[in-house]
Amino acid sequence: MLTPLRKIAVQCVATKNFNGIHGRRWLSSAQDAFERAQADLKKLPEEPDNEIKLRIYALFKQATSGDVTGSRPGMMDFVGRAKFDAWSQLKGTAQDDAKKKYAELVTSLRGVAAEQQTSSGASVLGLDPVSGLDLSIEDKIFKITLNRPSKFNALTLEMYKGLTDALNAASKDKSTTVTVITGTGKYYCSGNDLSNFAALATAGKEEIRKTAEMAGTVMQAYVQAYIDHEKPLVSLINGPAVGISVTVLPLFDLVLASDAATFHTPFAALGQSPEACSSYTFPHLMGQLNAAEILLVGKKITAEEAQRRGLVNQVFPDTEFAASASKIVSAFSKLPPQSAKICKKLLRDPHRQKLTEINAIETETIKERWQSSECHAAIAAFMSRSKK
Ligand code: COA
Repeated sequence: MLTPLRKIAVQCVATKNFNGIHGRRWLSSAQDAFERAQADLKKLPEEPDNEIKLRIYALFKQATSGDVTGSRPGMMDFVGRAKFDAWSQLKGTAQDDAKKKYAELVTSLRGVAAEQQTSSGASVLGLDPVSGLDLSIEDKIFKITLNRPSKFNALTLEMYKGLTDALNAASKDKSTTVTVITGTGKYYCSGNDLSNFAALATAGKEEIRKTAEMAGTVMQAYVQAYIDHEKPLVSLINGPAVGISVTVLPLFDLVLASDAATFHTPFAALGQSPEACSSYTFPHLMGQLNAAEILLVGKKITAEEAQRRGLVNQVFPDTEFAASASKIVSAFSKLPPQSAKICKKLLRDPHRQKLTEINAIETETIKERWQSSECHAAIAAFMSRSKK
């Protein structure tokens, strides 16, 4: 920091020469901001990622030493070379400009940190609130929580749209490195909210067609958001999962489950058909017979069985699930974000077009199913079932 005497000296010199006033005040404030930013940097709740650290380093060197000097470190000195290159990119930048930019960068990092500490509810990243969904940013994690426990987190059309928007926003968000989906209460998710289609049993043909078209468009966009998600996507399965919450699992990068979870897709019984690209991903993942047993026969499987069939990475005792999963996700979120994204892209790219095509085919099929009498009868039976 400037001592009070030096500050006064700077101001005194400045006021003697009218033409120099603004320039000198600016110079002294650039230095002040630079020094304040160095102190603020130490108070960030979390270390910035490597890319940002390099920018900070380069601006600091440019601000304090001017243009880069010396020769470029050799290929084996990765760190030294990256630092040298980052500094070289600022060649010609005035030292006071570098100080200003350094201060601006640290201020923006502090802004992100403050937002992360206070963000909760649905106004995260400017997204509209949606009943049944909680969005939050926790450190480097964008978390989507299905929060409709009274209906076992069944997905309404609004929730599908909200999830699609949240996934797309999280994919592009620069402050987070992984996206997590989990559920509140006893269930992870009971799948499609069957009351979305309750009216179909009694509606006229044209109304049924329009509803099926609209729901198909919503579901196709929802699945596409998984196919195109650019960051590591994690599912934390806290309890039973039904329908689309099961079929979408192969589009995640990490699936952790409580041993209280079960996995069930009663499509045939409901007069419906597989979605979320499961007609393609399930046979690849577990073989034709195992896939048919789940998607066609509708066998409900345990978390351990789901792990054996490649739907789940790891299963934890229910009492330890939250703590163990949180530790793993936290470590995952600290991986270098750029290389995580690149790795994900390499894994996804060979299948992206195929998945997109399958999504379109499955959507056309399910739209037809939603208009069938088999489906209407099954949904009517669920809606009018007697409860014990
Ligand atoms: N859509 C709409 N509501 C659902 C739902 C769904 N998919 N799954 C559960 N619910 C609701 C129930 O209607 C009930 O609400 P209510 O108390 O207001 O009537 C509440 O969630 C609890 O469900 P309930 O059936 O009473 O509990 P259960 O323990 O007896 O059975 C399930 C739980 C999940 C097995 C049963 O609700 C069910 O089969 N749901 C349908 C699952 C499904 O087929 N999903 C779609 C696949 S395409």
